[in-house]
Amino acid sequence: SAGGSLYERIGPEALAALVTRFYTLVAQDPDLSPIFPADLTPTAQKQLAFLTGFLGGPPLYHQNFGPPRLRARHVPHAITPTRGRAWLACMENALQDTPQIGEAEARELHAALARVAAHMVNTPDDDG
Ligand code: HEM
Repeated sequence: SAGGSLYERIGPEALAALVTRFYTLVAQDPDLSPIFPADLTPTAQKQLAFLTGFLGGPPLYHQNFGPPRLRARHVPHAITPTRGRAWLACMENALQDTPQIGEAEARELHAALARVAAHMVNTPDDDG
C-alpha cells in the first residue's frame, strides 16, 4: 500500500528473507568476507533488528543492543570505498533475489542504505 512505514510496506517476513540472502552474498564476496566473522548468524540478527527500527518498525536494535552508533561500531573494521560498493552490490542483488519486496520499496530501501553505507566508509583504498 502507499501508506505506512517502509517497514510496514515490506513486512517482517520479506525483510528477514532479504537479510538472510544479503549475508549469504556477503559470505561469498571476496572483498567483504575477510572482514566478517565466519558465523554470520549473530551479525544477521543484529542487522535485522537494526533495519526493523530504521525502516519505522519497533526499535529492536536499540532495545537489545543499545544505541546503534553505527559509524562508531564500524570503526574497528576497515570500511574502504571498495567495500562500501561491494556491500551495496550485495544488497542490490539480495533485493533482486527477494521478489516479495516490490520495486518501489526496493528502490527506496536501496537509496536509504546507500546514504548510510557512504557514512560508514572510514579507510582509504590501499591502491589510492
Ligand atoms: C556490523 C561491515 C555498512 C549495519 C558490521 C561488521 C562488519 C560490517 C565487518 C561486524 C560484523 C560482526 O562482527 O558481527 C560493513 C561494511 C559496510 C557496512 C563493509 C559497507 C559500507 C553497513 C550499513 C548498515 C550496517 C549501511 C546499516 C544499514 C550493521 C550492523 C552491524 C554491523 C547493525 C552490527 C553491529 C553490532 O555489532 O551490534 N558491519 N558494514 N552496516 N553493520 Fe555493517
